[in-house]
Amino acid sequence: MAKKFIQDLVNQMTLEEKLGEMTQLAPDFLGIDPNMDLTGPMSELHIKEEWLDNIGSTLNGFGAEKLKEIQDKHMKASRLHIPLLFMADVVHGYRTSFPIPLAIGCSFNPKNYELASGIAAAESAASGIHLTFAPMTDLVRDPRWGRVMESTGEDAYLNSVMTAAAVRGFQGEDFKEKGHIAACVKHFAAYGAPWGGRDYNTVDLSEGMLREYYLPAYKAAVDAHVAMVMTSFNTVERVPASANKWLMRDVLRGEWGFDGVVISDYAAVDETISHGVSADGAEAAEKCIKAGVDIEMMSLHYLNYAGKLLEEGKLDIALIDEAVIRILELKDALGLFENPYKDASAEDEKRLHQCDEHLKAAHDIAVECAVLLKNEGVLPLKENMKIGLTGPFADSDDLLGGWTAGGGKADASLCESLKKAMPGAEIVTAMIEELNPMQDGFFDVADHVEEACEALRNCDVIIAAVGEHCADTGESASKTSLRLTPNQERLLYAIKKLGKPVVMVVFSGRPMEIYPVMDCADAILQGWYLGSETGTAIADLLAGRVNPSGRLSMSFPYNVGQVPVHYNMFQTGRPVNGKKGRYLSKYLDCPNEALFSFGYGLSYSEFRYSDFKVEQSDTNADTAGDMPVAKASVLVENVSEVTGKETVQLYIRDISAQVVRPLKELKGFEQIVLEPGESQTVEFTITKDMLSYWNNSGKFVFEPGEFDIMIGKNSVDTEVSRVTIA
Ligand code: BGC
Repeated sequence: MAKKFIQDLVNQMTLEEKLGEMTQLAPDFLGIDPNMDLTGPMSELHIKEEWLDNIGSTLNGFGAEKLKEIQDKHMKASRLHIPLLFMADVVHGYRTSFPIPLAIGCSFNPKNYELASGIAAAESAASGIHLTFAPMTDLVRDPRWGRVMESTGEDAYLNSVMTAAAVRGFQGEDFKEKGHIAACVKHFAAYGAPWGGRDYNTVDLSEGMLREYYLPAYKAAVDAHVAMVMTSFNTVERVPASANKWLMRDVLRGEWGFDGVVISDYAAVDETISHGVSADGAEAAEKCIKAGVDIEMMSLHYLNYAGKLLEEGKLDIALIDEAVIRILELKDALGLFENPYKDASAEDEKRLHQCDEHLKAAHDIAVECAVLLKNEGVLPLKENMKIGLTGPFADSDDLLGGWTAGGGKADASLCESLKKAMPGAEIVTAMIEELNPMQDGFFDVADHVEEACEALRNCDVIIAAVGEHCADTGESASKTSLRLTPNQERLLYAIKKLGKPVVMVVFSGRPMEIYPVMDCADAILQGWYLGSETGTAIADLLAGRVNPSGRLSMSFPYNVGQVPVHYNMFQTGRPVNGKKGRYLSKYLDCPNEALFSFGYGLSYSEFRYSDFKVEQSDTNADTAGDMPVAKASVLVENVSEVTGKETVQLYIRDISAQVVRPLKELKGFEQIVLEPGESQTVEFTITKDMLSYWNNSGKFVFEPGEFDIMIGKNSVDTEVSRVTIA
């Protein structure tokens, strides 16, 4: 039951006012921001001036003073004085930028996502934002898709843990409280599985696949009480998500009990016409309202056609009222009826934006997100070296990555940061011209390889800072080749020939194809885009001021032809399993496995695992799903001279079931910090639920039988024990 004042409001609202509430427009339509960049088919739609006073929410307007001005104007114009809700894409930080979510996933530390989201909430709330379109939690297995950068990776369990943490960070205990904002999980559902990695392309998955891998992280957000869910652009079971009643009414609201607001993605209601499931705008409105999309973002079919649909008896007013009540309840939960500005404050913007405390947090998180992929005795760098620094990211400060709501640049480039981190070093730079985005049509750097080699010839070590332009990651940034640009590869081959140790640092929003240049580098650090503190974080890791601890949240392919190459593949009928022969499930020219698999990452420390044990508990058919069926443990010892952080990972495999099961599935992880010589036993409790799966009748079931329990450093390097669980 809605609160009385909300029900009273709805009773007084005209149909046009209700439909305005269900429509979201960019702030420029409300007369303030004439320069806003419009995407999609919106620019072709006609808006009636009189509708504007009733619009319920805006997207991607920023700034305390500006949003207060818009709110004031709106509150005067709105007949019933219903406040606007300001939403925005605050994805990995606001003015203080944090590592891209794919990199945060690599920290395997949910506290990092919670802290980053909490700070992003406080900074953006001060700028007048009430709700963020985050976390994006689409499971991703195809690095050709540019949006892999926005997700925490390829694993359903890691994504779920991370998603819940982000929701907690943004929303706090109660998002009405100062410094918190409401969150919107997106993109429901399975936007991360477009065919061929091409953005906005068809997704087609079996229901089992959807439930088992793609849905859990959205469900984790719902369980963490996320305020809003955004639909995805793609189809689910051949129906675009925004018109998919099964997805929204049956699964999201029915099975999961979600009672918050559902918003379409940008013009996604309109796009059901291009998909070919709506003949026109009226059918688009009918289908999406019936499917349960409460707010239509950036298209106007609800306003244009819902009245006619009601007259024709094709739509029931109860569906409109139900949506409006949900939206008003969200505004009420944010406290907007008492204070329509919420936390907007120019003073707080000054106090909070990029304050020392936030930048320190950004640094502490960033150092945990880079992943050391190779190290043949080169890193950490020694003091007083002559360091050669080359490549398009050597002196760039364009290191924040896509979706940076607050704009800006990194605090310092790698070159500036190295000078600070290694004051005794001599740094020589060569061929450091920045990349242009592929989006702009021209994307390689000029070939100054020969001059660079001349300049770098006498260095003790050469660092090549290579990668892809940040504008070529994120939305609408799909690629069919993941290799470095030709001149970057040429540079790497040439400096290798100088016979000096080479360290390659890769800046990218996705796993790239680094195999062709692997042998050019003695050490490889995957640097991603780590936000405001990218430069300092990478410099601190290279200099050994911080020990790398990141583990891959997404597998790196040898080449793009292997994709998908996620670690939790299904067993086939003709597995290779070390055999030789023609008719096996394999490639002729490449291994089946990833170059670097999920969970992989090196450290300057060395950890030895021993005493791996699995002990079974007494179980029977009545043992509840969350009760322990076994305990697995391992002793981890730091056998090096350096204190380090290790992420101990638990995987399981169901040996035989009614449907094929993956070769391995992550079910738990624990991080420990060990000093030199120190050891610690890490123990995991295994429950029946951890051994259960979604069957083909849409049920989560446990089937007694044999299971492999594995503990290891990553998804490949594990110890195994087989148990039979009744
Ligand atoms: C993206 C969403 C985003 C929305 C609003 C869309 O193009 O797919 O992730 O939240 O725009 O900016």
